[in-house]
Order: sequence, then C-alpha cells, then structure tokens
Amino acid sequence: MDWGMKNRLARLIKPATGKAVWLAVDHGYFLGPLSKLEEPGKTIKPLMPYTDALMLTRGVLRNCVDAGIDIPVILRVSGGNSIVGPALSNEGIQTSVEEAVRLNASAVAISIYIGTEHEHQTLMALGQLVNEGERCGMPVLAVTAVGKELEKRDARYLGLCCRIAAELGAQVVKTYYCEDFEKVVKGCPVPLVIAGGPKLKTELDALKLAHDAIQEGAAGVDMGRNIWQSDNAVGMIKAIRKIVHENASVKEAGKSLKN
Ligand code: R5P
Repeated sequence: MDWGMKNRLARLIKPATGKAVWLAVDHGYFLGPLSKLEEPGKTIKPLMPYTDALMLTRGVLRNCVDAGIDIPVILRVSGGNSIVGPALSNEGIQTSVEEAVRLNASAVAISIYIGTEHEHQTLMALGQLVNEGERCGMPVLAVTAVGKELEKRDARYLGLCCRIAAELGAQVVKTYYCEDFEKVVKGCPVPLVIAGGPKLKTELDALKLAHDAIQEGAAGVDMGRNIWQSDNAVGMIKAIRKIVHENASVKEAGKSLKN
C-alpha cells in the first residue's frame, strides 16, 4: 500500500488503538432533512470534539462545515436515489475522486446493493472507484446497504457482502452488526466498521450494539442516528468512544450519559 493511502487510513483508524469512531451524517443524500439532521451544521458542531472522522456529502461539507476543522472527512460519493423513488438500490457514483481530493477527503464512500436488481451496477461502480482511488491514494469505504429491507441483516448475507466488497478492493467495509458477527469479521480481510441503523429503543441498546461489535472484531463504528437522534447526543458519542477506544463495558461507558 502506498504512503498516501496508508497515511489517509491512519487518520481514520487511530494507530494508538487500531479503532475508529466516525460520525455518519450523510443520510440526507437519499432521505432529505430527516429528524435531528434538518440543519446538519448544528447537529455536527457539538459532536466534533469526539469524532475521529465525519462521513458526509460534498453539499453538506461545503455548506455546513467550517473549512478550518482538523477532522478527516469520509466523502459519500454514491447517490442518485431517493426514499420516494422506485428503487433505493439504483445508485451510482455522482461525486468524482478528483472532487474528493479537492475537498481534502481522507476516504470516499459508496453503497453496494448485493442481491438486488442493481447489484451489478453498484459492484462495477465500486470497482471503478477503487481503480481511481488507487491512482490517487484515496481509500474506499464500501457500505453494504440493505435499503428498506432491514431483515436482510444476518451473518450469511452480510458475510457475503463484506467479502465481495473486500475482494473488489475496498480498503474498509461498513456493515451492520448481527448475530454471529464474528463470522462476518472472519470472512472479511479488511477492517469492518458498523453502522448503527435506525434509532434503537434506548441509549443502552445502542451502546450494547457497539460494545458487542467491538468485542467480536469490528474496527469501529460509523454511527449516525443512534448518536444524533438521542436527546443526549454528546453523552452518547462520549460513551461510544469509551467502548471503542478504551474497551469499556456498557455499564462503564453508560456513565458518560449522566455527565
Ligand atoms: C445511510 O443512510 C448512511 O450511509 C449512513 O451513513 C449509515 O447508515 C450509518 O448511519 P446510521 O448509524 O444512522 O445507520
């Protein structure tokens, strides 16, 4: 791996712990102004001191984030779909790697939709992005998207998706936590981070999800709704950091919710 690629990855997955806490705020690219992310700048600001990277689109980056920040950016470069359109899986690359370099991104992110009618197009797009990324030293984060079919999130399906993403060259893969998650980790030769998914019933449920994922081999979290849709978003991200970087138990990390 070339120096630039290695250096970008080291900004994202902290060498001190080998782990990562990323804040995902890219949801608007197909969901529009969803609850608590109506004004992304306001949502992001108080959470910035506690995140290792921000995952977002170029539109939110340019319009809502100060260019003086010292936090690496994971640029969402796939899109072209919407929650009200005919198929969420109908995504393609809509932001170039050149643009990602211009924006000083540390990685680019793309969703793949395995098992859908758009499987081939999203996997070919991943290959194209990896080719361009390799040319520029830009890591690619492949997101194993399930669209509206949340029930797809089992080890057999996610294991398949993660392995394919890694085989096609993604340097990091983002997936969901599931039962038998170790099997997903075992079959994927690159670091795996987990999404949180839709907001869980309680904060402790989300902390347990992050805790179990880390214990079972995840390199970190790239979490959105379970952090910023919480009424205690800062407490949540602090607690998540304890779990990811300090190996804290759910109980120990839960104390951050009270501070
Ligand atoms: C999908 O909507 C986005 O790519 C999110 O970045 C991803 O799902 C992670 O966010 P959350 O933790 O809210 O699922």
